[in-house]
Amino acid sequence: MLAFKNDISHAVDVLGDMLCNSKYERYHVELEKETIWQELQSTNDDSFETLMENVYYNVYRKHMMGLPILGEIDNIHKINRDMIVAGLIVGPPVAPKAGRAPTVRLDGAAQPTGLPIDLTGKVAFVAGVADSAGYGWAIVKHLAEAGATVAVGTWPPVLKIFEKSLKSGKLDDDLILSNGQKMPVPKIFPLDATFDTPDDVPEDVRTNKRYAGTDKYTVQEVADAVEAEYGRCDILIHSLANAPEVKAPLMQVSRKGYLAAASASSYSMVSMVQRFAPIMPKGGSVLALSFLAAERFVPGYGGGMSSAKAQLESDMRVLAFEVGRQYGLRINTISAGALKSRAASAIGGAKGEKTFIEYYIDHSLANAPLPEPLEADDVGATAAFLCSPFAKAITGVNMYVDNGMSTMASSVDSRAFEGYKWGYNFPMPGTPFEEAPEVEEKPSVAAAPEPALASAKA
Ligand SMILES: NC(=O)c1ccc[n+]([C@@H]2O[C@H](COP(=O)([O-])OP(=O)(O)OC[C@H]3O[C@@H](n4cnc5c(N)ncnc54)[C@H](O)[C@@H]3O)[C@@H](O)[C@H]2O)c1
Repeated sequence: MLAFKNDISHAVDVLGDMLCNSKYERYHVELEKETIWQELQSTNDDSFETLMENVYYNVYRKHMMGLPILGEIDNIHKINRDMIVAGLIVGPPVAPKAGRAPTVRLDGAAQPTGLPIDLTGKVAFVAGVADSAGYGWAIVKHLAEAGATVAVGTWPPVLKIFEKSLKSGKLDDDLILSNGQKMPVPKIFPLDATFDTPDDVPEDVRTNKRYAGTDKYTVQEVADAVEAEYGRCDILIHSLANAPEVKAPLMQVSRKGYLAAASASSYSMVSMVQRFAPIMPKGGSVLALSFLAAERFVPGYGGGMSSAKAQLESDMRVLAFEVGRQYGLRINTISAGALKSRAASAIGGAKGEKTFIEYYIDHSLANAPLPEPLEADDVGATAAFLCSPFAKAITGVNMYVDNGMSTMASSVDSRAFEGYKWGYNFPMPGTPFEEAPEVEEKPSVAAAPEPALASAKA
Protein backbone atom coordinates (compact mmCIF):
# COMPACT_ATOMS: atom_id res chain seq x y z
CA MET A 1 0.00 0.00 0.00
CA LEU A 2 1.37 3.43 -0.94
CA ALA A 3 0.35 6.53 1.03
CA PHE A 4 1.40 10.16 1.36
CA LYS A 5 3.31 11.02 4.55
CA ASN A 6 0.38 12.93 6.07
CA ASP A 7 -2.01 10.05 5.42
CA ILE A 8 0.06 7.38 7.15
CA SER A 9 -2.22 7.00 10.18
CA HIS A 10 -5.27 6.78 7.92
CA ALA A 11 -3.52 4.20 5.77
CA VAL A 12 -2.62 2.09 8.83
CA ASP A 13 -6.25 2.33 9.90
CA VAL A 14 -7.47 1.11 6.52
CA LEU A 15 -4.90 -1.67 6.45
CA GLY A 16 -5.87 -2.78 9.99
CA ASP A 17 -9.52 -2.81 9.00
CA MET A 18 -8.74 -4.87 5.90
CA LEU A 19 -6.79 -7.38 7.98
CA CYS A 20 -9.21 -7.70 10.89
CA ASN A 21 -12.62 -7.18 9.35
CA SER A 22 -12.35 -8.60 5.85
CA LYS A 23 -15.62 -10.01 4.58
CA TYR A 24 -14.01 -11.97 1.73
CA GLU A 25 -16.99 -11.34 -0.49
CA ARG A 26 -17.05 -13.82 -3.36
CA TYR A 27 -17.03 -11.12 -6.04
CA HIS A 28 -14.02 -9.36 -4.49
CA VAL A 29 -12.14 -12.62 -4.04
CA GLU A 30 -12.61 -13.32 -7.75
CA LEU A 31 -11.43 -9.79 -8.62
CA GLU A 32 -8.34 -10.23 -6.46
CA LYS A 33 -7.63 -13.61 -8.06
CA GLU A 34 -7.85 -11.98 -11.47
CA THR A 35 -5.37 -9.27 -10.39
CA ILE A 36 -2.92 -11.82 -9.01
CA TRP A 37 -3.28 -13.90 -12.15
CA GLN A 38 -2.46 -10.86 -14.29
CA GLU A 39 0.53 -10.01 -12.10
CA LEU A 40 1.75 -13.58 -12.44
CA GLN A 41 1.44 -13.34 -16.21
CA SER A 42 3.40 -10.11 -16.34
CA THR A 43 6.05 -11.56 -14.00
CA ASN A 44 6.37 -14.50 -16.35
CA ASP A 45 6.78 -12.07 -19.25
CA ASP A 46 9.42 -10.02 -17.40
CA SER A 47 12.83 -11.62 -17.93
CA PHE A 48 14.36 -9.97 -14.81
CA GLU A 49 11.53 -11.21 -12.55
CA THR A 50 11.75 -14.68 -14.11
CA LEU A 51 15.49 -14.68 -13.52
CA MET A 52 15.03 -13.70 -9.85
CA GLU A 53 12.38 -16.37 -9.31
CA ASN A 54 14.83 -18.91 -10.73
CA VAL A 55 17.61 -17.61 -8.49
CA TYR A 56 15.36 -18.01 -5.44
CA TYR A 57 14.33 -21.45 -6.59
CA ASN A 58 17.94 -22.57 -7.04
CA VAL A 59 19.01 -21.17 -3.67
CA TYR A 60 16.07 -22.37 -1.57
CA ARG A 61 14.67 -25.24 -3.65
CA LYS A 62 11.62 -26.75 -1.89
CA HIS A 63 11.75 -24.37 1.07
CA MET A 64 8.83 -21.91 0.87
CA MET A 65 11.35 -19.16 0.10
CA GLY A 66 12.03 -20.94 -3.18
CA LEU A 67 8.45 -20.74 -4.35
CA PRO A 68 6.98 -17.82 -6.36
CA ILE A 69 5.86 -14.96 -4.10
CA LEU A 70 2.46 -14.70 -5.76
CA GLY A 71 1.86 -18.43 -5.77
CA GLU A 72 1.52 -20.71 -8.71
CA ILE A 73 -0.91 -20.03 -11.53
CA ASP A 74 -2.64 -23.40 -11.03
CA ASN A 75 -3.25 -22.68 -7.35
CA ILE A 76 -4.78 -19.29 -8.06
CA HIS A 77 -7.43 -20.97 -10.22
CA LYS A 78 -8.24 -23.59 -7.56
CA ILE A 79 -8.64 -21.22 -4.61
CA ASN A 80 -12.12 -20.04 -3.70
CA ARG A 81 -13.63 -17.83 -1.03
CA ASP A 82 -14.55 -20.71 1.30
CA MET A 83 -10.97 -22.00 1.28
CA ILE A 84 -9.68 -18.59 2.27
CA VAL A 85 -12.18 -18.25 5.11
CA ALA A 86 -11.63 -21.83 6.31
CA GLY A 87 -7.85 -21.48 6.12
CA LEU A 88 -7.92 -17.98 7.64
CA ILE A 89 -5.33 -16.86 5.15
CA VAL A 90 -4.33 -13.21 5.14
CA GLY A 91 -2.60 -11.70 2.15
CA PRO A 92 -2.83 -12.74 -1.47
CA PRO A 93 -5.01 -15.83 -1.84
CA VAL A 94 -2.18 -18.22 -2.42
CA ALA A 95 -2.27 -21.87 -1.41
CA PRO A 96 -0.43 -22.53 1.89
CA LYS A 97 2.51 -24.08 0.09
CA ALA A 98 2.62 -21.47 -2.62
CA GLY A 99 5.46 -19.18 -1.77
CA ARG A 100 7.02 -16.44 0.30
CA ALA A 101 3.77 -14.53 0.84
CA PRO A 102 2.80 -14.43 4.53
CA THR A 103 0.10 -16.93 5.45
CA VAL A 104 -0.87 -16.32 9.07
CA ARG A 105 -3.96 -16.75 11.20
CA LEU A 106 -5.71 -13.57 12.29
CA ASP A 107 -5.53 -14.67 15.94
CA GLY A 108 -1.80 -15.24 15.68
CA ALA A 109 -2.07 -19.00 16.21
CA ALA A 110 -0.31 -21.46 13.99
CA GLN A 111 -1.68 -22.20 10.53
CA PRO A 112 -4.33 -24.93 10.88
CA THR A 113 -2.92 -28.28 9.98
CA GLY A 114 -4.53 -31.65 9.43
CA LEU A 115 -7.95 -31.81 11.11
CA PRO A 116 -10.10 -28.70 10.77
CA ILE A 117 -13.81 -29.19 11.47
CA ASP A 118 -15.40 -28.05 8.24
CA LEU A 119 -19.16 -27.58 8.19
CA THR A 120 -19.14 -25.26 5.20
CA GLY A 121 -22.41 -25.48 3.32
CA LYS A 122 -24.27 -27.11 6.22
CA VAL A 123 -27.44 -25.65 7.72
CA ALA A 124 -27.83 -25.85 11.50
CA PHE A 125 -30.84 -25.08 13.67
CA VAL A 126 -30.15 -24.49 17.36
CA ALA A 127 -33.27 -24.50 19.56
CA GLY A 128 -33.04 -22.69 22.91
CA VAL A 129 -31.07 -19.49 22.35
CA ALA A 130 -32.14 -16.20 23.90
CA ASP A 131 -28.91 -14.68 25.15
CA SER A 132 -25.17 -15.21 24.96
CA ALA A 133 -24.68 -16.79 28.38
CA GLY A 134 -25.93 -20.32 27.74
CA TYR A 135 -24.76 -23.43 25.99
CA GLY A 136 -26.93 -22.72 22.92
CA TRP A 137 -25.00 -19.57 22.05
CA ALA A 138 -21.62 -21.30 22.39
CA ILE A 139 -22.84 -24.05 20.07
CA VAL A 140 -24.08 -21.47 17.56
CA LYS A 141 -20.65 -19.81 17.56
CA HIS A 142 -18.72 -23.03 17.09
CA LEU A 143 -20.96 -24.22 14.27
CA ALA A 144 -20.65 -20.80 12.60
CA GLU A 145 -16.90 -20.85 13.08
CA ALA A 146 -16.79 -24.23 11.34
CA GLY A 147 -18.56 -22.61 8.40
CA ALA A 148 -22.20 -23.68 8.95
CA THR A 149 -25.14 -21.38 8.31
CA VAL A 150 -26.84 -21.20 11.70
CA ALA A 151 -30.41 -20.29 12.62
CA VAL A 152 -31.83 -20.31 16.13
CA GLY A 153 -35.14 -21.06 17.80
CA THR A 154 -36.15 -18.64 20.56
CA TRP A 155 -38.95 -19.03 23.10
CA PRO A 156 -41.56 -16.29 22.34
CA PRO A 157 -41.67 -14.84 25.89
CA VAL A 158 -37.96 -13.92 25.61
CA LEU A 159 -37.87 -13.20 21.88
CA LYS A 160 -38.24 -9.42 22.03
CA ILE A 161 -35.56 -8.92 24.63
CA PHE A 162 -33.17 -11.13 22.64
CA GLU A 163 -33.85 -9.24 19.41
CA LYS A 164 -33.38 -5.96 21.26
CA SER A 165 -30.02 -7.06 22.67
CA LEU A 166 -28.86 -8.02 19.19
CA LYS A 167 -30.11 -4.81 17.57
CA SER A 168 -28.70 -2.52 20.24
CA GLY A 169 -25.22 -3.97 19.76
CA LYS A 170 -25.19 -5.31 23.34
CA LEU A 171 -24.12 -8.71 22.02
CA ASP A 172 -21.65 -7.39 19.44
CA ASP A 173 -18.60 -8.61 21.38
CA ASP A 174 -20.19 -12.03 21.74
CA LEU A 175 -20.49 -12.30 17.96
CA ILE A 176 -16.72 -12.19 17.53
CA LEU A 177 -15.26 -15.55 16.57
CA SER A 178 -11.86 -16.83 17.65
CA ASN A 179 -10.37 -15.65 14.35
CA GLY A 180 -11.40 -12.07 15.15
CA GLN A 181 -14.18 -12.02 12.57
CA LYS A 182 -17.78 -11.25 13.42
CA MET A 183 -20.20 -14.07 12.78
CA PRO A 184 -23.39 -13.24 10.91
CA VAL A 185 -26.32 -12.61 13.28
CA PRO A 186 -28.28 -15.88 13.20
CA LYS A 187 -31.77 -15.82 11.76
CA ILE A 188 -34.26 -16.18 14.61
CA PHE A 189 -37.35 -18.39 14.45
CA PRO A 190 -39.81 -18.04 17.34
CA LEU A 191 -40.24 -21.52 18.87
CA ASP A 192 -42.28 -22.90 21.71
CA ALA A 193 -41.21 -26.52 21.80
CA THR A 194 -44.15 -27.57 23.97
CA PHE A 195 -46.51 -27.27 21.00
CA ASP A 196 -46.31 -29.57 18.02
CA THR A 197 -48.89 -27.98 15.71
CA PRO A 198 -51.08 -24.83 15.82
CA ASP A 199 -54.02 -26.93 17.07
CA ASP A 200 -52.06 -27.63 20.28
CA VAL A 201 -51.79 -23.98 21.27
CA PRO A 202 -54.43 -23.17 23.91
CA GLU A 203 -56.39 -19.94 23.79
CA ASP A 204 -54.75 -18.48 26.91
CA VAL A 205 -51.31 -18.84 25.29
CA ARG A 206 -52.45 -17.57 21.89
CA THR A 207 -53.81 -14.40 23.48
CA ASN A 208 -51.10 -14.05 26.13
CA LYS A 209 -49.25 -10.75 25.85
CA ARG A 210 -45.90 -12.58 26.05
CA TYR A 211 -46.84 -14.21 22.73
CA ALA A 212 -48.30 -11.06 21.17
CA GLY A 213 -47.12 -10.35 17.64
CA THR A 214 -45.58 -13.80 17.32
CA ASP A 215 -46.95 -16.69 15.33
CA LYS A 216 -45.83 -19.91 13.66
CA TYR A 217 -43.90 -20.97 16.76
CA THR A 218 -45.00 -24.61 17.00
CA VAL A 219 -42.42 -27.29 16.23
CA GLN A 220 -44.05 -28.31 12.92
CA GLU A 221 -44.36 -24.71 11.76
CA VAL A 222 -40.72 -24.01 12.60
CA ALA A 223 -39.55 -27.14 10.75
CA ASP A 224 -41.61 -25.96 7.74
CA ALA A 225 -40.17 -22.44 7.99
CA VAL A 226 -36.60 -23.78 8.14
CA GLU A 227 -37.28 -25.92 5.08
CA ALA A 228 -38.81 -22.94 3.25
CA GLU A 229 -35.79 -20.76 4.13
CA TYR A 230 -32.91 -23.20 3.56
CA GLY A 231 -34.40 -26.22 1.80
CA ARG A 232 -33.09 -28.56 4.51
CA CYS A 233 -31.45 -28.83 7.93
CA ASP A 234 -28.20 -30.79 8.40
CA ILE A 235 -27.67 -30.20 12.12
CA LEU A 236 -30.37 -30.03 14.76
CA ILE A 237 -29.54 -28.93 18.31
CA HIS A 238 -31.88 -29.19 21.29
CA SER A 239 -30.54 -26.84 23.97
CA LEU A 240 -33.61 -26.05 26.02
CA ALA A 241 -35.26 -27.04 29.25
CA ASN A 242 -38.01 -25.71 31.46
CA ALA A 243 -39.63 -26.88 34.69
CA PRO A 244 -42.12 -24.59 36.44
CA GLU A 245 -41.49 -26.28 39.80
CA VAL A 246 -37.73 -26.69 39.43
CA LYS A 247 -37.03 -25.60 43.01
CA ALA A 248 -39.33 -28.30 44.49
CA PRO A 249 -38.06 -31.70 45.70
CA LEU A 250 -39.73 -34.59 43.87
CA MET A 251 -41.83 -35.38 46.97
CA GLN A 252 -43.56 -32.02 46.47
CA VAL A 253 -43.85 -31.84 42.69
CA SER A 254 -47.36 -31.75 41.27
CA ARG A 255 -48.43 -33.94 38.35
CA LYS A 256 -48.87 -30.78 36.29
CA GLY A 257 -45.37 -29.53 37.12
CA TYR A 258 -43.77 -32.91 36.47
CA LEU A 259 -45.46 -33.32 33.10
CA ALA A 260 -44.68 -29.73 32.13
CA ALA A 261 -40.98 -30.40 32.77
CA ALA A 262 -41.13 -33.54 30.63
CA SER A 263 -43.07 -31.76 27.87
CA ALA A 264 -40.68 -28.81 27.58
CA SER A 265 -37.42 -30.62 28.34
CA SER A 266 -37.69 -34.08 26.82
CA TYR A 267 -40.75 -34.68 24.64
CA SER A 268 -39.80 -31.42 22.88
CA MET A 269 -36.72 -33.24 21.59
CA VAL A 270 -38.76 -36.20 20.34
CA SER A 271 -41.17 -33.84 18.62
CA MET A 272 -38.35 -31.89 17.01
CA VAL A 273 -36.72 -35.05 15.70
CA GLN A 274 -40.04 -36.33 14.33
CA ARG A 275 -40.62 -33.09 12.46
CA PHE A 276 -37.09 -32.16 11.37
CA ALA A 277 -35.86 -35.65 10.38
CA PRO A 278 -37.77 -35.59 7.07
CA ILE A 279 -35.90 -32.41 6.04
CA MET A 280 -32.52 -33.69 7.24
CA PRO A 281 -30.32 -35.24 4.55
CA LYS A 282 -28.56 -38.54 5.23
CA GLY A 283 -25.47 -37.96 7.38
CA GLY A 284 -27.23 -35.25 9.40
CA SER A 285 -26.77 -35.00 13.13
CA VAL A 286 -29.00 -34.29 16.14
CA LEU A 287 -27.66 -33.28 19.52
CA ALA A 288 -29.40 -32.57 22.84
CA LEU A 289 -28.05 -31.19 26.10
CA SER A 290 -28.37 -33.34 29.20
CA PHE A 291 -27.12 -33.29 32.77
CA LEU A 292 -25.65 -35.80 35.21
CA ALA A 293 -28.90 -35.71 37.22
CA ALA A 294 -30.33 -37.99 34.49
CA GLU A 295 -28.46 -40.92 36.00
CA ARG A 296 -27.39 -39.92 39.53
CA PHE A 297 -29.12 -37.90 42.18
CA VAL A 298 -28.11 -34.25 42.21
CA PRO A 299 -29.77 -32.71 45.30
CA GLY A 300 -31.39 -29.38 44.47
CA TYR A 301 -32.18 -30.19 40.82
CA GLY A 302 -35.91 -30.57 41.31
CA GLY A 303 -39.29 -30.16 39.68
CA GLY A 304 -39.00 -33.44 37.76
CA MET A 305 -36.03 -32.11 35.78
CA SER A 306 -33.90 -35.15 36.68
CA SER A 307 -36.70 -37.37 35.33
CA ALA A 308 -36.90 -35.26 32.16
CA LYS A 309 -33.15 -35.57 31.57
CA ALA A 310 -33.34 -39.35 32.13
CA GLN A 311 -36.08 -39.49 29.49
CA LEU A 312 -34.03 -37.31 27.16
CA GLU A 313 -31.04 -39.67 27.32
CA SER A 314 -33.18 -42.78 26.99
CA ASP A 315 -35.11 -41.32 24.06
CA MET A 316 -31.82 -40.39 22.42
CA ARG A 317 -30.76 -44.06 22.45
CA VAL A 318 -34.10 -45.25 21.05
CA LEU A 319 -34.09 -42.57 18.36
CA ALA A 320 -30.49 -43.44 17.44
CA PHE A 321 -31.82 -46.72 16.04
CA GLU A 322 -35.00 -45.31 14.55
CA VAL A 323 -33.53 -42.27 12.78
CA GLY A 324 -30.36 -44.17 11.92
CA ARG A 325 -32.30 -46.83 10.07
CA GLN A 326 -35.02 -44.62 8.61
CA TYR A 327 -33.08 -41.48 7.69
CA GLY A 328 -29.36 -42.24 8.06
CA LEU A 329 -29.11 -39.64 10.84
CA ARG A 330 -27.08 -39.65 14.05
CA ILE A 331 -28.22 -38.48 17.46
CA ASN A 332 -26.26 -37.96 20.68
CA THR A 333 -26.45 -36.09 23.96
CA ILE A 334 -23.83 -34.05 25.76
CA SER A 335 -23.99 -34.37 29.53
CA ALA A 336 -22.75 -30.89 30.34
CA GLY A 337 -21.24 -29.70 33.60
CA ALA A 338 -22.46 -26.70 35.55
CA LEU A 339 -22.72 -23.32 33.83
CA LYS A 340 -24.20 -20.12 35.20
CA SER A 341 -26.71 -19.66 32.39
CA ARG A 342 -29.99 -17.79 32.68
CA ALA A 343 -32.00 -21.04 32.98
CA ALA A 344 -29.67 -22.50 35.59
CA SER A 345 -29.74 -19.28 37.61
CA ALA A 346 -33.49 -19.72 38.03
CA ILE A 347 -32.91 -22.54 40.53
CA GLY A 348 -32.92 -21.46 44.17
CA GLY A 349 -31.64 -18.37 45.92
CA ALA A 350 -33.71 -15.32 46.78
CA LYS A 351 -32.63 -11.99 45.24
CA GLY A 352 -29.04 -11.26 46.19
CA GLU A 353 -28.47 -14.77 47.53
CA LYS A 354 -26.08 -17.27 46.01
CA THR A 355 -27.99 -19.49 43.58
CA PHE A 356 -27.99 -23.28 43.39
CA ILE A 357 -25.85 -23.21 40.23
CA GLU A 358 -23.21 -21.06 41.96
CA TYR A 359 -22.96 -23.59 44.78
CA TYR A 360 -22.82 -26.41 42.25
CA ILE A 361 -20.05 -24.70 40.25
CA ASP A 362 -18.01 -24.31 43.46
CA HIS A 363 -18.68 -27.96 44.26
CA SER A 364 -17.45 -29.02 40.79
CA LEU A 365 -14.32 -26.89 41.11
CA ALA A 366 -13.53 -28.52 44.46
CA ASN A 367 -14.23 -32.09 43.37
CA ALA A 368 -13.77 -32.60 39.63
CA PRO A 369 -10.63 -34.32 38.34
CA LEU A 370 -9.91 -31.13 36.34
CA PRO A 371 -10.46 -28.32 38.86
CA GLU A 372 -10.99 -25.70 36.14
CA PRO A 373 -14.00 -23.48 35.46
CA LEU A 374 -16.13 -25.15 32.79
CA GLU A 375 -16.73 -22.86 29.84
CA ALA A 376 -19.70 -22.87 27.50
CA ASP A 377 -17.14 -23.06 24.69
CA ASP A 378 -16.01 -26.48 25.96
CA VAL A 379 -19.49 -27.73 25.14
CA GLY A 380 -19.64 -25.68 21.91
CA ALA A 381 -16.45 -27.30 20.59
CA THR A 382 -17.62 -30.82 21.46
CA ALA A 383 -20.95 -30.11 19.79
CA ALA A 384 -19.20 -28.99 16.59
CA PHE A 385 -17.12 -32.18 16.63
CA LEU A 386 -20.14 -34.44 17.26
CA CYS A 387 -22.00 -32.80 14.37
CA SER A 388 -19.05 -33.04 12.02
CA PRO A 389 -18.07 -35.85 9.68
CA PHE A 390 -15.29 -36.76 12.14
CA ALA A 391 -18.02 -38.25 14.35
CA LYS A 392 -19.81 -40.05 11.53
CA ALA A 393 -19.71 -43.38 13.40
CA ILE A 394 -20.84 -41.92 16.75
CA THR A 395 -24.52 -42.23 17.52
CA GLY A 396 -26.55 -43.15 20.61
CA VAL A 397 -23.81 -41.77 22.86
CA ASN A 398 -24.03 -39.59 25.94
CA MET A 399 -20.78 -37.63 26.06
CA TYR A 400 -19.68 -35.99 29.31
CA VAL A 401 -18.26 -32.50 28.99
CA ASP A 402 -17.86 -31.70 32.67
CA ASN A 403 -14.16 -31.67 33.56
CA GLY A 404 -14.64 -35.28 34.67
CA MET A 405 -17.18 -34.52 37.42
CA SER A 406 -19.30 -37.52 36.41
CA THR A 407 -16.50 -39.95 37.35
CA MET A 408 -16.50 -38.95 41.03
CA ALA A 409 -18.29 -41.19 43.51
CA SER A 410 -17.37 -39.12 46.54
CA SER A 411 -16.87 -35.46 47.36
CA VAL A 412 -13.29 -34.84 48.36
CA ASP A 413 -14.26 -31.51 49.91
CA SER A 414 -16.79 -33.18 52.21
CA ARG A 415 -16.47 -32.19 55.87
CA ALA A 416 -16.45 -35.90 56.62
CA PHE A 417 -12.93 -36.07 55.16
CA GLU A 418 -11.59 -33.05 57.03
CA GLY A 419 -8.19 -33.82 58.49
CA TYR A 420 -7.79 -37.09 56.63
CA LYS A 421 -4.19 -37.54 55.47
CA TRP A 422 -4.46 -38.26 51.78
CA GLY A 423 -1.47 -39.88 50.11
CA TYR A 424 -1.52 -37.50 47.15
CA ASN A 425 1.38 -35.27 46.26
CA PHE A 426 -0.96 -32.38 45.44
CA PRO A 427 -3.21 -30.26 47.67
CA MET A 428 -6.61 -31.65 48.73
CA PRO A 429 -9.49 -29.56 50.10
CA GLY A 430 -9.74 -29.37 53.90
CA THR A 431 -6.29 -30.83 54.55
CA PRO A 432 -3.13 -28.81 55.12
CA PHE A 433 -0.84 -29.68 52.25
CA GLU A 434 2.52 -31.11 53.23
CA GLU A 435 5.13 -31.64 50.59
CA ALA A 436 5.72 -35.37 50.26
CA PRO A 437 8.97 -36.29 52.05
CA GLU A 438 11.85 -36.81 49.72
CA VAL A 439 12.17 -40.47 48.90
CA GLU A 440 15.65 -41.86 49.42
CA GLU A 441 17.04 -42.88 46.10
CA LYS A 442 17.34 -46.63 45.83
CA PRO A 443 20.06 -48.07 43.61
CA SER A 444 18.56 -49.03 40.32
CA VAL A 445 18.55 -52.64 39.17
CA ALA A 446 21.10 -51.81 36.51
CA ALA A 447 23.41 -50.27 39.13
CA ALA A 448 23.13 -53.26 41.52
CA PRO A 449 26.27 -55.35 41.87
CA GLU A 450 26.56 -58.41 39.69
CA PRO A 451 25.17 -61.38 41.72
CA ALA A 452 28.36 -63.37 41.19
CA LEU A 453 30.50 -60.47 42.41
CA ALA A 454 28.14 -59.84 45.35
CA SER A 455 28.31 -63.45 46.53
CA ALA A 456 32.07 -63.53 46.05
CA LYS A 457 32.39 -60.54 48.37
CA ALA A 458 30.05 -62.21 50.91
N1 LIG B 1 -26.41 -24.60 32.77
C1 LIG B 1 -26.10 -25.79 33.21
O1 LIG B 1 -25.43 -25.94 34.25
C2 LIG B 1 -26.49 -27.01 32.42
C3 LIG B 1 -25.88 -28.24 32.72
C4 LIG B 1 -26.24 -29.36 31.96
C5 LIG B 1 -27.17 -29.25 30.96
N2 LIG B 1 -27.75 -28.04 30.69
C6 LIG B 1 -28.74 -27.99 29.61
O2 LIG B 1 -28.31 -27.12 28.60
C7 LIG B 1 -29.46 -26.69 27.85
C8 LIG B 1 -29.37 -25.19 27.67
O3 LIG B 1 -29.56 -24.57 28.94
P1 LIG B 1 -28.62 -23.43 29.50
O4 LIG B 1 -28.30 -23.81 30.89
O5 LIG B 1 -27.53 -23.14 28.56
O6 LIG B 1 -29.63 -22.21 29.66
P2 LIG B 1 -30.24 -21.17 28.64
O7 LIG B 1 -31.08 -20.27 29.45
O8 LIG B 1 -29.18 -20.55 27.80
O9 LIG B 1 -31.09 -22.07 27.66
C9 LIG B 1 -32.38 -22.57 27.93
C10 LIG B 1 -33.28 -22.06 26.84
O10 LIG B 1 -34.49 -22.78 26.80
C11 LIG B 1 -35.48 -21.87 26.35
N3 LIG B 1 -36.81 -22.44 26.56
C12 LIG B 1 -37.46 -22.65 27.73
N4 LIG B 1 -38.67 -23.17 27.49
C13 LIG B 1 -38.79 -23.29 26.15
C14 LIG B 1 -39.82 -23.75 25.28
N5 LIG B 1 -40.99 -24.21 25.76
N6 LIG B 1 -39.61 -23.70 23.95
C15 LIG B 1 -38.46 -23.24 23.46
N7 LIG B 1 -37.45 -22.81 24.22
C16 LIG B 1 -37.61 -22.83 25.55
C17 LIG B 1 -35.19 -20.63 27.15
O11 LIG B 1 -35.81 -19.51 26.61
C18 LIG B 1 -33.68 -20.60 27.04
O12 LIG B 1 -33.29 -19.84 25.91
C19 LIG B 1 -30.67 -27.17 28.64
O13 LIG B 1 -31.14 -28.37 28.09
C20 LIG B 1 -30.08 -27.43 30.02
O14 LIG B 1 -30.84 -28.36 30.78
C21 LIG B 1 -27.42 -26.93 31.40
